[in-house]
Amino acid sequence: MILILGGSGLLGSAILKRLLQQRFPARVLTRGLGDWRSSPIPQLKQMGIEVLVGDMTDSEVLANAINGCTAVINAAGSMTLSSDKVMQATHLDAVKEMARLAELSGVQRFIHVSCLGASENSSSQFMRLKWEAEQVVKSAPFYWTIFRPSYLFGDTFPFLDMMMPILKLKPVIPLPGTGLNEIQPLPADDVAEVISRSLYNRSAVGQSYELGGPTIYTMQEFVELMTGTLRIRTPVMNVPSEKAEASAKIFGKVLRGFSAELVSLMTIDSVAGENDEPLPVQLSGRTLEDFLPSIIAKL
Ligand SMILES: NC(=O)c1ccc[n+]([C@@H]2O[C@H](COP(=O)([O-])OP(=O)(O)OC[C@H]3O[C@@H](n4cnc5c(N)ncnc54)[C@H](OP(=O)(O)O)[C@@H]3O)[C@@H](O)[C@H]2O)c1
Repeated sequence: MILILGGSGLLGSAILKRLLQQRFPARVLTRGLGDWRSSPIPQLKQMGIEVLVGDMTDSEVLANAINGCTAVINAAGSMTLSSDKVMQATHLDAVKEMARLAELSGVQRFIHVSCLGASENSSSQFMRLKWEAEQVVKSAPFYWTIFRPSYLFGDTFPFLDMMMPILKLKPVIPLPGTGLNEIQPLPADDVAEVISRSLYNRSAVGQSYELGGPTIYTMQEFVELMTGTLRIRTPVMNVPSEKAEASAKIFGKVLRGFSAELVSLMTIDSVAGENDEPLPVQLSGRTLEDFLPSIIAKL
């Protein structure tokens, strides 16, 4: 049995689809949020997946979810969690607990999804926690593989969703920092393909793979691409990141989603370096521009 944490999410559901195609028995842990129309549970069950309802920050829930599994794929988490406390519980404390429980119950294979840009001294709490969680996974005794993708898109584009409060500001759109930091978004489907092909691939064990899409954008180029596509005519103005952070703290109280964390993420590089080991499968090369019309239509 393979446990997929985050199996109802953008990346997790794409991984799940591939595991089912390969006829792997799969279990998903979901909090089952939403009403009867938006809940992922009926659809997951229809697909023949074992569904456990609960929160992975609860150790007992996690223990039940891991029990009887030979492999765990951790694709749970979000850049937009409600508070610093929830962020820490989800991205670090739960990973520590996962590693402990996985070792106890004899899980052999552990795949962990981190984030490109995760680093010890990042100004973003999300990126610092992701880095710390990587260290936890690397020091565990099971066969681990870590994936560090840049920003993911598919039917949706969470990084764009997160930036919408800034893009809607008037009379100017503040661009924190120089706007010269670089990002390399890629399709969630590409990452899912690499993860599913790595699951039982020995050369992937002990590797930390960086994954980026075919185009590298500076943040300035990226914001201009988004405003152009969304037909937003508000001018973009560079603002020193400390000033942007200070105003995010003030405006964040009235503008939902505009936070100092978002300002930090907008100034961080997220570009893939060389990997020590080749990826088990080539990335598709599909670009953000291929997906943007349908992403925008759903906004
Ligand atoms: N999106 C990006 O641009 C991006 C870039 C780099 C790395 N990543 C990483 O890739 C992973 C997947 O991202 P995504 O964009 O696919 O996320 P997503 O679509 O926002 O989905 C988040 C998933 O995490 C699960 N989850 C969150 N908190 C949970 C909790 N307390 N207990 C149980 N499940 C919980 C959610 O399950 P329920 O809501 O069903 O409970 C959902 O399945 C995350 O680790 C993220 O940090 C994302």
